[in-house]
Amino acid sequence: MTHAATHFTHAITRRPAPSIIAGLRAVDIGSPDLALMQAHHADYIAALRATGATVIELPALDAYPDSVFVEDTALCLPQGAVIMRPGAPSRLGEAAEMAPHLAALYGNIVTITGPDSFIEGGDILVTGTEILVGRSARTNAAGIAELTALVAPWGHTVREVHTPPGVLHFKTDCSLLDARTILATPRLAASGCFDDYFVVHTAQGEEAAANAIRFNDVVLMAQGFAATRAAVESAGYTVVEIGNSECAKLDGGMSCLSLRFTPKP
Ligand code: GLY
Repeated sequence: MTHAATHFTHAITRRPAPSIIAGLRAVDIGSPDLALMQAHHADYIAALRATGATVIELPALDAYPDSVFVEDTALCLPQGAVIMRPGAPSRLGEAAEMAPHLAALYGNIVTITGPDSFIEGGDILVTGTEILVGRSARTNAAGIAELTALVAPWGHTVREVHTPPGVLHFKTDCSLLDARTILATPRLAASGCFDDYFVVHTAQGEEAAANAIRFNDVVLMAQGFAATRAAVESAGYTVVEIGNSECAKLDGGMSCLSLRFTPKP
């Protein structure tokens, strides 16, 4: 699964809706500007397409203010897709909106059914060897147990880890750079969860740079974190910067904006 963790033929995105101004946020630092978010979103899609991937753009869903953050709705693996069960009540319905689009591409779709299980894609990091899932305010033990049982027949091992206190998702603080290399904040790496990996640390004060994505031959990073960008480039990766000022107001970043996969018909 080494290459499968970083190289993909497809991505799914969803256009931001006017209701984005009502999106969830830990701290209110102002509402996102829809036009600027749309411009950043277009840049993001162009960067994915420039790698040769097919990028599906789903229409905006005004009933779900956070629905631009499609990553939380599913986990896409080489063998099939798992439909999530978001822990934020206002986001629960987003998973069912995504399911038919993945079913059209994948022959194998399974679903977290609950009712006490909650899990969001932002808490799941698939590496070259395992699936790490961070317990968080959105992802609970029952959700992790259900995911573990669903992906075991596909040959995947799940390891439960912890999201730092006050951090939305596990991947708010980390990203996969290659099968065995992680970009992580020092506060998350200090927990020991990446002791078996090579780690590139975000620079002091640049924790928000940790949510990046390796997509084919590039790493997409939020714009404006020069020291962390330099560290990633020094480690040998090609970086593409994308404006993230508006998504950041809703605790969103590069990974949140897409599902990335190679569908198995
Ligand atoms: N605003 C993104 C989330 O809270 O899920």
